[in-house]
Amino acid sequence: MDCTSAKAERRRVRSRHRVLAFGVLATLVIGTGGGTVRRDGGAVPAADAVLAATERAAAPLPYLDPGLPVGKRVDDLIARMSLDDKLGQMTQPERRYITPAEITAHRIGSVLSSGGSAPSPNTPRSWADMYDGLQRAALAGRLRVPLMYGVDAVHGHNNVVGATIFPHNIGLGAARDPELVRRIGGATAREMAATGVDWNFAPCVCVVRNDRWGRTYESFGEVPGLASAMTTMIDGLQGEKLGAGPASVLATAKHYLGDGATQGGDDRGDARISEERLREIHLPPFRAAVRRGVGSVMVSYSSWNGVKLHEHRYLVTDVLKGELGFTGFVVSDYNGIDQIDGAPGFTRDEVAKAVNAGIDMVMVPEEWKKFIRYLRAEVGEGDVPMARIDDANRRILTKKFELGLFENPMADRRHLGSVGGAGHRALARGAVARSQVLLKNSQDVLPFGPAHDKIFVAGRSADDIGRQSGGWTVTWQGKPGGITPGTTILEGIREVAGPGVEVGYGRDGKGIDDSYDAAIAVVGEDPYAEYHGDRTGGLGLDDADVRTIERLRAADVPVIVVLVSGRPMDVAQRLPGWDALVAAWLPGTEGGGVADVLFGRSAPTGRLPVTWMSDADQQPINQGDGKKPLFPFGYGLTYG
Ligand code: GLC
Repeated sequence: MDCTSAKAERRRVRSRHRVLAFGVLATLVIGTGGGTVRRDGGAVPAADAVLAATERAAAPLPYLDPGLPVGKRVDDLIARMSLDDKLGQMTQPERRYITPAEITAHRIGSVLSSGGSAPSPNTPRSWADMYDGLQRAALAGRLRVPLMYGVDAVHGHNNVVGATIFPHNIGLGAARDPELVRRIGGATAREMAATGVDWNFAPCVCVVRNDRWGRTYESFGEVPGLASAMTTMIDGLQGEKLGAGPASVLATAKHYLGDGATQGGDDRGDARISEERLREIHLPPFRAAVRRGVGSVMVSYSSWNGVKLHEHRYLVTDVLKGELGFTGFVVSDYNGIDQIDGAPGFTRDEVAKAVNAGIDMVMVPEEWKKFIRYLRAEVGEGDVPMARIDDANRRILTKKFELGLFENPMADRRHLGSVGGAGHRALARGAVARSQVLLKNSQDVLPFGPAHDKIFVAGRSADDIGRQSGGWTVTWQGKPGGITPGTTILEGIREVAGPGVEVGYGRDGKGIDDSYDAAIAVVGEDPYAEYHGDRTGGLGLDDADVRTIERLRAADVPVIVVLVSGRPMDVAQRLPGWDALVAAWLPGTEGGGVADVLFGRSAPTGRLPVTWMSDADQQPINQGDGKKPLFPFGYGLTYG
C-alpha cells in the first residue's frame, strides 16, 4: 500500500469510528429516551443531542486533526501544554543516557545518536526497532507528542552498518553537480526513514578557509557559492515540501556561523573577521538553506571575534531568524552550551544565555535533567521569558506537524530494502567517479588501456573500506578496516580491469618489479572527525606512504598516486617523481568509482573545490589571495 492510499485508509478508519460511535451513542440515548438540556434550559430533541454528543465524542482534538492548518494545531497543542511539557520539547538527550520511561515522564521532544551510537546488533532492522520503542514511549505521554530522532547522516546513513556511504562533501564539491547532491539526499532520506530516524544533522554548509581544519572534508569548498549550490541536499532530504515525497526527514544547515573561518583552522576556535567578511563568505549558504525551507539550523561551537555563537543573540535571533526569516528551529551543538563560559559543565546563566540568544532545542546528552531543572528555574525567575519558551515550542512543533509525525510516527519499514541496496550503491559509485580530480597525467599514462595487462597496486588505503570512507563512518572518528560492506579501491580495480589484466598487490609496495606496466599507490590520511583532524604542523604524507611510493618508483615503472584524504596535502616536493596524481578525497563504500576513472570508463571531470597549497606554510590559502598555489581552485584535467 503506498503512502497516499495508507493515508486514505486511515481517514476511512476514522470516519468508520465516528459512525460507530454515533450508532452506539444513538442507541444508548434514544433507548433511554434521554436528551440534552441546553444551558438556557430549553430541551434539545434526542436525535440532535445524539449528533452533537457524537460529534464531540468522535472528533479528534484539534491538534490531532490533520485536516486543520498546522498553525491552528500548534496553537491548540501549546494551549494544552504545561511548562514541563514545553521544557521537555526543548530537551535533546543522547540515547545512551535516557530510558523510554524517562522519555514518557519528562515529555522529551527529541533524542539523538551521537557519532557511532548505535543499537546492538547494528542493523537497519534493530535501528527501526529501537526508534519505534522510543517513539512509543514518547506517544505514551499525556498529549501524545511524537519525538524526533536525530543523527549525523553526513555521507549516507553512516552510523548504520550496511548503509550506502557516499563521498564526503569535499568530493561532492569537486563534482560540482547540485542535482547529484539532491539525489544523494533523497537516497539518504530513504535509508533513514527505513530505520525511523527522521532528523539529519546535515548538510554542513560550512565554507572551509583553512585546510588545517579537521572538518575540511565536511565542507563543499572554500567559496560560498559551492555550499549555497549544494543546499539541494536539503531538497533531497526533506522532499520538495517537508513531509512530502516517498521519504522526508528534517534537514539541518550547520554550523551557524563562521565555523570554517577560525584562526589556524582551529575547530571550535575563534573567527576573527569583519562582519562584512562574515556576511560575504559564510552567511550566503545559510540564506540559501533558509530559502529552501531547511527545517533546522545547528549553532557552531566556534566564536566570532571572541563571542561564542551559542550565546550570540544578534547572529542567531536578529540575523538568522529576523533578517533571513528562518522559521524553523535552532538546535545547539553537542554540549555546546557548556562552552559558553569556557568552564566544564553548564550553569543556569549559560542555559539562560543560550535560550535567550535564540536556541530553541538544546543538545544536552547526559545532564538533561539538570538542564530542565535550570531552565524551569530561569523561567520561574523571569530570566527566560515565557514568550521565548512558547516561541521555541512553536518552532519545534511546527516541524513535527509538517513532518507528519503525528500521523505517521513509526519507522517506514517499506524502505528497509533500500538500505545499502544496489540502486543507492550505483548512485554512490557514480558520485565517486564524478568527484575524482586528475591533477597530473604525464605522457597520458592514464587511462589504463589495452597496453596495460599487468598492474601493481599498493598503499594503506588501497584495500581498506574504513580509510576510504573517513570519519563519521559507523563510528564517530571512523577507523581503518572492513568496518562495513563495500568495494575497496583495489577490488574496484580488479573488477574494472577484468580477467585479462594481472593485478598484483602489496600494501607496502613489496612485490613490485619492472615486469609491471604501471603501479598505483593508493595512500592518504587516517580517518578522523572534528578537532581530532586539526593539523597545526605539516600537512605532508605519512612516512609509510612515502616509503611505499619510493619502493614503486625504484622498480622504474610509471607510478600513479591516488590520494585518499579529507583535504589537500603538501605534496609539491614529491610530485615531480610521480607520473600521475588523482585526488580521490573520501569516496565512501563504492571504491569502484575510482577504478572507473583510472580505466577510462568515466573521464575525470572533477575540479578542485579548494586551492591546493604549494607548501603547508601557505595555509590559509584561498582563491584570489595572491599566494601561488600548486594547483588553483577549480583546477582539474581530463582525458584526451
Ligand atoms: C558534534 C558536531 C555536530 C554534530 C553533533 C551531534 O560535536 O559538532 O556536527 O551534529 O555533535 O553528533
